Amino acid sequence: MPLTLDDVRELDRQDPLATFKSRFALPEGAIYLDGNSLGAQPVAAAEAVEALMAQWRDSLIQGWNQGWFDAPERLGDRLAPLLGAAPGEVLVSDTITHNLYKLLGYITEGQGRARPVILSEGGNFPTDGYIAQGFCRFGGFEHRVVPEGAALEAYLDERVAAVVLSHVHYRTGRLRDMAAITRQVHASGAEVVWDLAHSAGALPVNLAACGVRYAVGCTYKYLNGGPGAPAFLYVRRDCQNRGWQPLSGWLGHAAPFAFEADYAPAPGISQFRTGTHSPLAFAALEASLTLWQEVDLAALRHKSQRLIELFRESLSGCLDEHGISDITPPEAQRGSQVGLVVSNHGSSNAPNPGYAIVQALIERGVIGDYREPGLMRFGFAPLYLSHEDVWQAARHLREVLSAGEYLAPRFQQRGAVT
Ligand SMILES: Cc1ncc(COP(=O)(O)O)c(C=O)c1O
Repeated sequence: MPLTLDDVRELDRQDPLATFKSRFALPEGAIYLDGNSLGAQPVAAAEAVEALMAQWRDSLIQGWNQGWFDAPERLGDRLAPLLGAAPGEVLVSDTITHNLYKLLGYITEGQGRARPVILSEGGNFPTDGYIAQGFCRFGGFEHRVVPEGAALEAYLDERVAAVVLSHVHYRTGRLRDMAAITRQVHASGAEVVWDLAHSAGALPVNLAACGVRYAVGCTYKYLNGGPGAPAFLYVRRDCQNRGWQPLSGWLGHAAPFAFEADYAPAPGISQFRTGTHSPLAFAALEASLTLWQEVDLAALRHKSQRLIELFRESLSGCLDEHGISDITPPEAQRGSQVGLVVSNHGSSNAPNPGYAIVQALIERGVIGDYREPGLMRFGFAPLYLSHEDVWQAARHLREVLSAGEYLAPRFQQRGAVT
């Protein structure tokens, strides 16, 4: 039996994470199901940025000695418990894109070309494949793609140096068995770099328990660090200090202010720094990570899965008749998002109606996103979503579909970012 409004309000009263919602500054009336693209704003983040502006005004360059300079390592240590990592193993820096390049170079440095192949997976978020391609082109490696859905095993031969994989797939939301795959890759003599973009802050991640040596991830999605917030990378302690990473910038130098002619990598995780970071961006992220220290990750996972089930159950019976299929994997194999694929009603030339459906929802205050071809994505960020929000979002979607509201011409206009 579908839950009633009273039922979901009762679930909210019993929710141990309910108080976090008031610590986010969401627009009035918005139901935000796009935290898997850009997380909502913690109230404390706006305060922290304002304080940083005042510090810049008053302290000028002294700010660098007042916490700005060591922020990449300090925030890395804040992030570590959310990833099952130890202090000194995580650095907040640059973007996933840059960090992938650094790690591919670091892993393969000094190997000669005994293992000349870098693997990436077809259908993954494009930057992972693009960086593998670029790295191979400039580094003299061979790039091979594991087709989407193919068994990795068949591609892991003695020529493979490294493979880049997503922990949770950005389109399907499918969660991989990180421990088993890491064991498999290591047993073949290769390294794996995990992309945690859709798992950090979405579910408990335990890099140490899974035997992971290298990972990257972003902080602007579930971790609420803000638009373009700095990314992170993880290098297990015993894998540090092995050589160089290829973006050998001055702040990754052992003595950056000695201005020496030649590069010498800093000890530990700091060598993965590149150039000057933005204290403004770090201030917003630090405020969010401070909030995250209070979050019980088991409760987060439990609520994320209950919200997903509530959404799907509230839509049951209404998707088929509109040519929509629910591609969300089963609970043990998914992250924190729901994927609904809209069929093109047999016409491959016509624009997919999924885009217009998402636009019609946005007009009603329910914010999700759309990815070609035909995928409507809804992210469930348990810190600022109530059960009632999710119940109402499903009601809006049912109404948009049943009334054909999305067919209105204004929903067909496309912006640059979908
Ligand atoms: C799986 C995955 N990797 C990487 C990125 C982008 O990384 P970057 O921080 O370099 O923009 C995204 C962005 O959505 C993503 O979903």
